[in-house]
Amino acid sequence: MIFESESDDMTYEFARGLGEKAVPGQVYALNGELGAGKTVFAKGFAEGLGVTERVNSPTYTILHSYLSGRLPFHHFDVYRIAEPEEMEEIGYEDCFYSEGVSLVEWADEIRELLPESTVFVNITKAPGKGAGYRRIEIENIGD
Ligand SMILES: Nc1ncnc2c1ncn2[C@@H]1O[C@H](COP(=O)(O)OP(=O)(O)OP(=O)(O)O)[C@@H](O)[C@H]1O
Ligand SMILES: [Mg+2]
Repeated sequence: MIFESESDDMTYEFARGLGEKAVPGQVYALNGELGAGKTVFAKGFAEGLGVTERVNSPTYTILHSYLSGRLPFHHFDVYRIAEPEEMEEIGYEDCFYSEGVSLVEWADEIRELLPESTVFVNITKAPGKGAGYRRIEIENIGD
């Protein structure tokens, strides 16, 4: 599935719709360059899940969990991860294999740890399409 976003609001709303439909145990793997819009997506997604806390990128802590929504929401940002063992230390398996929903920014960094059922979200800019344009490709959703 491909969604063409023209603004951060459009990305947020699109992700909010996915958050509304998210089911227990899903893992969303987000990839895209710096400033692609992964965190904008995560914030909209969290709102769709009913999270009421303010969502900020957990760049320095790797993981923030939010429990105020319809399902627990585990927000990872693995940009600064040095080795996969750090994921074990923060207990990623208790998130990925749980009743909650996980979303991982920079997921390619930990690709070998992602479950087979992972939903991939690739966000790319396109030269010539304007500063607010993002192509959002979703793979492996809805099975
Ligand atoms: N269509 C769009 N969708 C999402 N963000 C957009 C869009 N157009 C412009 N932007 C802007 O791009 C930036 C995206 O920032 P964001 O922090 O979400 O990126 P990121 O992929 O999480 O980056 P990082 O890798 O640094 O964590 C914001 O400043 C946002 O306003
Ligand atoms: Mg981010």
